[in-house]
Amino acid sequence: MKDPCSVAVLISGNGTNLQALIDASEDANYRITAVISNNPDAYGLRRARDADIPTWTISHRDFNQRIEFDRALMARLDRIQPDLVVLAGFMRILSAEFVNHFSGRLLNIHPSLLPRYPGTDTHQRVLEAGDSEHGAAVHFVTEELDGGPVIAHSTVPVSPEDDASSLQEKVHREEYRLYPRVVTLFAEGRLKMTDGRAWLDGNALPAEGLHLERL
Ligand code: GRF
Repeated sequence: MKDPCSVAVLISGNGTNLQALIDASEDANYRITAVISNNPDAYGLRRARDADIPTWTISHRDFNQRIEFDRALMARLDRIQPDLVVLAGFMRILSAEFVNHFSGRLLNIHPSLLPRYPGTDTHQRVLEAGDSEHGAAVHFVTEELDGGPVIAHSTVPVSPEDDASSLQEKVHREEYRLYPRVVTLFAEGRLKMTDGRAWLDGNALPAEGLHLERL
């Protein structure tokens, strides 16, 4: 891996996780070398430009088929040649071709304690289930939606006063600590995906990943 590790971030919206990754990179061993959005209006593009990071917009609306969009994205990333591709609120489902092309160097952050609650509306689902604990998880991306091996998670308590938006806020705050930490571990060459499992320093990680405080 090049030193520092070069990271491309894919976004669709506000980009608060992107901002956390940018802020943390100043004292870390990785650099964000590209930000790509499928949405031309994503506020995250502005955040990237403010940090002097090159940006690209590749709108999925310009393509008739999902696979054509994925191939355009792949071609752009292959020109940029990042060591790691990070999904940060990227709201497109990626094809097997894309995911396999970047296998082992493609991460996603998800607002639930995976493997619980893959998919959308996680905060509402946690409330409806009456869970006392919620959180965020970072995982390697595989063909299975939100189903790749989990690396790490961070938890928040659910209180009786919580609604979906207060939970979202709590989970976001944890995401901003969790994602930069995991990217740093990857940049140190300590994280791998092999045989469908996530490994840290040669040790297979549990299905729910390690707690942030143990990283
Ligand atoms: C985050 O909650 C992340 O877990 C999910 O999408 C949201 C992105 O928010 N994948 P932002 O664009 O980083 O503010």
